[in-house]
Amino acid sequence: MKKYLVIGNPIEHSLSPLIHNHWMKKYRLLDSSYEKKKVEKKDLAKIVKQVRSGEISGVNITVPFKKEIIDFLDQVKGVARSCQSVNTLVKEGNKVCGYNTDVEGFKESLGDEFIDIRDKKILILGAGGVSTSILEAFVETAQKIYIMNRTKKKAEELKKIGDISIQLLNKNKNTIQVVEWGKMPEICDIVVNTTSVGLVEDKSFDLDFTSYEKKKNILFYDLIYNPKETIFLKNARLRGNKTLNGKMMFLYQALYSFQKWTGVTPKIDNETIKLLDNA
Ligand code: ATR
Repeated sequence: MKKYLVIGNPIEHSLSPLIHNHWMKKYRLLDSSYEKKKVEKKDLAKIVKQVRSGEISGVNITVPFKKEIIDFLDQVKGVARSCQSVNTLVKEGNKVCGYNTDVEGFKESLGDEFIDIRDKKILILGAGGVSTSILEAFVETAQKIYIMNRTKKKAEELKKIGDISIQLLNKNKNTIQVVEWGKMPEICDIVVNTTSVGLVEDKSFDLDFTSYEKKKNILFYDLIYNPKETIFLKNARLRGNKTLNGKMMFLYQALYSFQKWTGVTPKIDNETIKLLDNA
């Protein structure tokens, strides 16, 4: 039996088991199963050991351990290294390797909607766990990236991570700029909410987006997909902006993890999407 896990804390609400078990059944990987497990920081070393021994065949990592897991890994691969965020563990030879499929998942979700991210101005709201992946997704092609977080110090730490990539890419060192929470920068092409505000249905923040009125080509993206439409997205829709929630990003990051573990590229068809919609 091949055992897969998603670990985090809290973990009750994770829909990863639903999607992965669906694909495992669909692609006849009948000796495989995927479960969720609530863990503490002290459990991370053991989980990695279990991957190394083959007791666990693959792991997804979610909040708040995407950075903390790194200390226990043999190798951190690709963009996971630049954004210091690992969401997928894979055993390669005798090594436990950490990958990040959030960056690609996010990019793919934009590609799906034919949203061109080259040369654009981006506003990232929040500087928590997932924001490094979003920043990494934009860093190569953006013209300008503003980071706004309630706690400014965390936005500055996020900028530092992004600035390493900026330097490697030989881009203008002022590409990433931190702005004070509530102090709106120039109008941007894409505004992404990476904060947890909105997870509670009637919660929102009072940022002033009146200058975005009737701008139908500006995209407001909320990484949250449950609720389907946060107040952030609802307001954007009513203002006449384009909106997108985090559903497809979630599905694509799952797809890339599944692909790494099994070699199978699952299909994100209506059946898969419906599964998530009805959860
Ligand atoms: P972390 O990674 O820090 O554990 P997270 O849940 O990934 O936490 O991130 C939470 C994000 O939502 C942070 O950017 C947080 O802002 P702070 O850094 O100031 O805490 C943001 N956030 C949470 N509640 C918020 C609120 N009421 N208004 C604005 N931002 C909020």
